[in-house]
Amino acid sequence: MPAYLLAIDQGTTSSRAILFDRQANVIEVAQQEFTQHFPEDGWIEHDAEDIWKTVEQTSHQVLEQAGVGADEVAGIGITNQRETTLLWDRNTGEVLHRAIVWQDRRTADYCQRLRDAGHTSLVQERTGLLIDPYFSATKLAWLLENVEGARARAERGELAFGTVDTFLIWRLTGGKVHATDATNASRTALFNIHQQRWDDELLALFDIPASLLPEVKDSSDDFGHADASFLGAALPIAGVAGDQQAALFGQACFEPGMGKSTYGTGCFMILNTGDSAETSRNRLLTTVGYRLNGKPTYAMEGSIFVAGATVQWLRDGLKLFHDAAETEALARKTREGHHVYLVPAFTGLGAPHWDPQARGAIFGLTRDTGIAEIVAAGLQAVCYQTRDLQVCMNDDMAANTGTLRVDGGMVRNNWLMQFLADMLGVPVDRPTVLETTALGAAYLAGLQIGWYRDLDEIAELWRCERTFEPRMPDDERERLYQGWQDAVARVKS
Ligand code: G3P
Repeated sequence: MPAYLLAIDQGTTSSRAILFDRQANVIEVAQQEFTQHFPEDGWIEHDAEDIWKTVEQTSHQVLEQAGVGADEVAGIGITNQRETTLLWDRNTGEVLHRAIVWQDRRTADYCQRLRDAGHTSLVQERTGLLIDPYFSATKLAWLLENVEGARARAERGELAFGTVDTFLIWRLTGGKVHATDATNASRTALFNIHQQRWDDELLALFDIPASLLPEVKDSSDDFGHADASFLGAALPIAGVAGDQQAALFGQACFEPGMGKSTYGTGCFMILNTGDSAETSRNRLLTTVGYRLNGKPTYAMEGSIFVAGATVQWLRDGLKLFHDAAETEALARKTREGHHVYLVPAFTGLGAPHWDPQARGAIFGLTRDTGIAEIVAAGLQAVCYQTRDLQVCMNDDMAANTGTLRVDGGMVRNNWLMQFLADMLGVPVDRPTVLETTALGAAYLAGLQIGWYRDLDEIAELWRCERTFEPRMPDDERERLYQGWQDAVARVKS
């Protein structure tokens, strides 16, 4: 009996392969970073072959590290950076252009024209999203306009569009399956989340030929088999979800009102809203949390573009330290009552501001500001931004969000987690398994292949490693947060 599931987590800066057993234990992890291309200010691209190679190599590596053969793997779950857009030839598999990454702002003017023409409510009603370069639709439209011959070839039905999950499924199955799952589809701005199908009016609005689109499946479903040439045995691809929704699943946030926040390159806070697709009054997103047996569970999402990327910038750009693990000790050295605010609007601001033209800044520098204060301000920015989202969610749901489950690399930092609990004024739960995104993909695959009976069985596997209780006095919390809001107001365009 195969005893393991392989989760492929294709993220923004690295690809990871994680092997889980049935009790949700991490057996081994393999990870490879790949090159980010910045051809112009605000443009970010990935080479599709880098994505593929790092997925292939880490999948081999993880089995090798664990001493596990492909015949011991029961199936594959895929989770991925969302919205990132690829276009390829159905016959030759040739990718027409580097992938346009979710953070890429090249379609900001096009989005502005669409907003000026009054299309926001149509897009929001159908997709739960706003008109912003973040989502796939305008990226795909850009490819069709700017890659020579692409539109004509698309109209002849020769091309296929996909987010990263779709591209990987296509490659893994040797071009046999062109499919995505409902969570990834819900991030394209072309998918009607209420009717669970591609929306003709939106396809017309963005001028996208329907022949480009993949079939939309459940998050636990039959996505075909990875060819035996991939790992040595044909393995079923049985679970697929966008990384933030996979983390919601891996955190077992199955009841309405349960929420999680993931701190990776960006920060994404997602609240399960059950059967109802709530529309935000505060410019948050409505999205598909997961879809099982044809039934969508909806979620409300706040998306912040830069979280861990700030630490990366402080390390690699400013060279303030060598290893992200040093940030905790540095932050603990901070002078009492410093007033430094770092607004990491490197690629504009996401929710709730949606300001693609804003750029980052550091405020409140004094002669005695040192590395510790700047690093602490970078970490605190992540918490202030989470608070921004919490304020919006509380207002939208007319209820206060409760305990927050957290995951992602940054949450190992205890100082950061304490400041987060202090700034939110609610307990923050850190689970034992921090590979929550990959775990969500493994659970989805596990449901499909019959490893798990139902969601209750999965919920029982969730374990809390540590709870951070809020300790900061209310007046201090409000004073600090007010300072953040003033800083943000100064960078907005
Ligand atoms: O929406 C973008 C998100 O899916 C990227 O996640 O973990 O690669 O920062 P991550």
